[in-house]
Amino acid sequence: MEKIKVAVLGATGIVGQVFMWMLSNHRQFEIAFITASSPRIGKSYGDDARWMLPFEMPDNIKHIKFEELDYSKLEKLGIKVVFSALLSEVAMRVEPELRANNFWVFSNASALRYDENVPILIPEVNIESMDLIMGQGFPEKGFVITNANCSVTGLAVALAPLRKFGIKEVFVSTYQAISGAGYPGLSALDISGNLIPYIKEEEEKIDIELKKILGIEADVFPYCVRTPNLFGHLETVWVKFRESVNEDAVIGAWENFKMEELDIPSLPQKPIVYDKRVDFPQPKMSFFGNPPGMPVFTGRVRKEKDRIGFVLLVNNLVKGAAGGSIQNAEAFIKRFGG
Ligand SMILES: NC(=O)c1ccc[n+]([C@@H]2O[C@H](COP(=O)([O-])OP(=O)(O)OC[C@H]3O[C@@H](n4cnc5c(N)ncnc54)[C@H](OP(=O)(O)O)[C@@H]3O)[C@@H](O)[C@H]2O)c1
Repeated sequence: MEKIKVAVLGATGIVGQVFMWMLSNHRQFEIAFITASSPRIGKSYGDDARWMLPFEMPDNIKHIKFEELDYSKLEKLGIKVVFSALLSEVAMRVEPELRANNFWVFSNASALRYDENVPILIPEVNIESMDLIMGQGFPEKGFVITNANCSVTGLAVALAPLRKFGIKEVFVSTYQAISGAGYPGLSALDISGNLIPYIKEEEEKIDIELKKILGIEADVFPYCVRTPNLFGHLETVWVKFRESVNEDAVIGAWENFKMEELDIPSLPQKPIVYDKRVDFPQPKMSFFGNPPGMPVFTGRVRKEKDRIGFVLLVNNLVKGAAGGSIQNAEAFIKRFGG
């Protein structure tokens, strides 16, 4: 089968690198066009990108050259699918232009996430939200589909199979990796051997996005902390349900959450991996799973009074960013074709 040609915008950033790694060997997609900031135009990825992932840069992406974003060139190359790992301020200008020029944009940026007709899509959680693209003018015009903020992604996946118990209140504390701040991100003096109990606009995003994605009216109480680990956001969660729920019901709901009907390549066989080991999960497991970094890991379930508590781990760069976007594109192609 001929692969679908795609573009990656912001290919040198930490999320862009995960796009390049995952798309270098994808069953349906092949990279045909990449951008970064203008000084890189004409240089090759292998020579100019500062690779930060904990494994080697794939050989087959090293020769790809950075180009200027040129809509007519994308069209000539037969590219419709555009993956955006742009900073939000750049995405705010570029993504609506791409949409107006009939491209299909799968974005990590928060720029358009809160627009009424822009889905924040996580296929195993809210596949029905894809219908919103009709409100953007699809199929006559292009569209933007976003994925959620990285912390919200893990929380929304872990809570999706628990929606049936009636989620009333969610208390969440996040312990977020440095890579969540992009590259070069925070200064070493700020974060080495330290924790920072504030991440700009993160708590607001958790509140708004969780309710939009799950379609619930719950009260959400987040605290977000930046930690010095490299990859993976850990979250401790307490949930109050409308129904009386015990630990076994929660674990059973996760174990039975398979979503095979979606039938898309990057969906893990088990989107939620629960383990009863007392010290599970940990950020060093961020790239575990099949595909690596795509499952949400949960553990330490316990009931106190009328609340259920648990710990989760989400790979902020894979499931929480580039991998989530790739899944969204797979789900779109499955429904509408390439
Ligand atoms: N990091 C995460 O865990 C995470 C998770 C979910 C979503 N996100 C979102 O994903 C997006 C990318 O995040 P990141 O962490 O990968 O950021 P990053 O490491 O700072 O990367 C930013 C990318 O944008 C490019 N860029 C900067 N200015 C540009 C311009 N004027 N024109 C074109 N390209 C430009 C950069 O190119 P140069 O290298 O040439 O400067 C780089 O490729 C952001 O919107 C972020 O909020 C991040």
